[in-house]
Amino acid sequence: MTNDKLMVALLGAAGMMGRARQLGYASLPYYYPTIPYRPTIYKGSCLPSECDAVRNAGIEPTTDWKALVNETKWDVIEIATPNELHHEMCMEALEATKKLGKKRAVIVEKPLATSFGQAKEMYELAKTIPNLHCSCNFIYRHVAINAFFRNLILSGAYGPVIEFEFRYAQSWGRNADYSWRFGPFGGCLADLGSHACDMASFLTGERPSEVAAVAATYIPERFKPAKQAASDIRRYENNVAREREGEMVKVEVDDAARILMKMPNGVFGTISCTRNQCGAQNTFSYTICCRDATFKWNFDRLSEGVMVDERTGETKTYGGSTTFTADQTEFPYAIFAPGHGVDYRALTANFLYENVRAFAGLAPVSPLATFKDAMEVERTLEATKKSICENRWVRLSEIN
Ligand SMILES: NC(=O)c1ccc[n+]([C@@H]2O[C@H](COP(=O)([O-])OP(=O)(O)OC[C@H]3O[C@@H](n4cnc5c(N)ncnc54)[C@H](O)[C@@H]3O)[C@@H](O)[C@H]2O)c1
Repeated sequence: MTNDKLMVALLGAAGMMGRARQLGYASLPYYYPTIPYRPTIYKGSCLPSECDAVRNAGIEPTTDWKALVNETKWDVIEIATPNELHHEMCMEALEATKKLGKKRAVIVEKPLATSFGQAKEMYELAKTIPNLHCSCNFIYRHVAINAFFRNLILSGAYGPVIEFEFRYAQSWGRNADYSWRFGPFGGCLADLGSHACDMASFLTGERPSEVAAVAATYIPERFKPAKQAASDIRRYENNVAREREGEMVKVEVDDAARILMKMPNGVFGTISCTRNQCGAQNTFSYTICCRDATFKWNFDRLSEGVMVDERTGETKTYGGSTTFTADQTEFPYAIFAPGHGVDYRALTANFLYENVRAFAGLAPVSPLATFKDAMEVERTLEATKKSICENRWVRLSEIN
């Protein structure tokens, strides 16, 4: 590792993803001793109630994200705030970078934006800035077995993809207080559906041409505590000792959705996502069926992937068999967030490693999601919402 420092500004420093970034950056030199830069989070934006938590993590807190974005000091900015803030924060960071003319990286949490139009603006502006690296955190690309299966599938060695299924199920929505995740720009599609849309394209090499979808809101009103914590850390605590002062708030976004996808080459697939499935923690899984082999993975068994090779009749299991669902037992060692497993930190480190490599001009181990990829996810989600509203198949070409 060199001593070339990269100064990192972190927006949303006290949230779940803010903490994931703290863990990820801190562990980079241990996982990747030869990494070409040494990134350090020097300042983090947060809400006034969160300043102590950020300070305790050794990061200087600020409640003025605009001033932080306009500092000349940062090389990398991380936008890890609620979905509805990504566009404004990213555009401000891009404009500041364009004016300054310094080599920089702008990294945004998924979903990139709350509409295709917003994502397109971000993508278009980023394209005009020289020496800029941008990416969106579709983190499941950086699970080793997924990168490995992608290479096998895209090599064509097992014939073309003929169909696929993605399923992303969680249970926390059954008992959660109202938060931004149930506000107009939250919802299961934006949250979990976006991951599945990205992974479908990542693993099959195709983007959908048409979608048809349905969605449901199972819990039409949720309790909003008077003193609501901004971050997930407290939200889970609220569930344990729920503060009774507050009000019921109407929920207008989906708790669950199903998408049917047609790909341009005639392949079809399904995406199923829900935050209300008893027993599911962070159960993200897929089955991708090629002509001669089927590939399967499930986040609950993070390091393991299964390939059924039709030509040899063999079922191969790659990797180990670590099971991460134990993190909600009475031994809550090193829990990051419910269902996210002890090794979520390593996935974040993998994602940050790819960003540092890109910043240094090195080829990726496995491709990051670019702003273009993330904008295409927004196009798919917007077509999906249109299909739900209009009860019909929607072509992706309708979303411009
Ligand atoms: N890539 C992944 O796997 C993954 C997983 C979880 C969440 N996310 C994404 O990360 C983003 C943040 O999610 P989270 O779970 O960390 O949320 P969170 O609620 O835990 O934290 C959000 C943080 O944003 C900050 N914030 C809130 N309102 C603000 C405001 N008005 N101005 C400035 N800062 C404000 C606060 O510091 C808060 O702690 C979301 O876009 C979410 O979709 C991605």
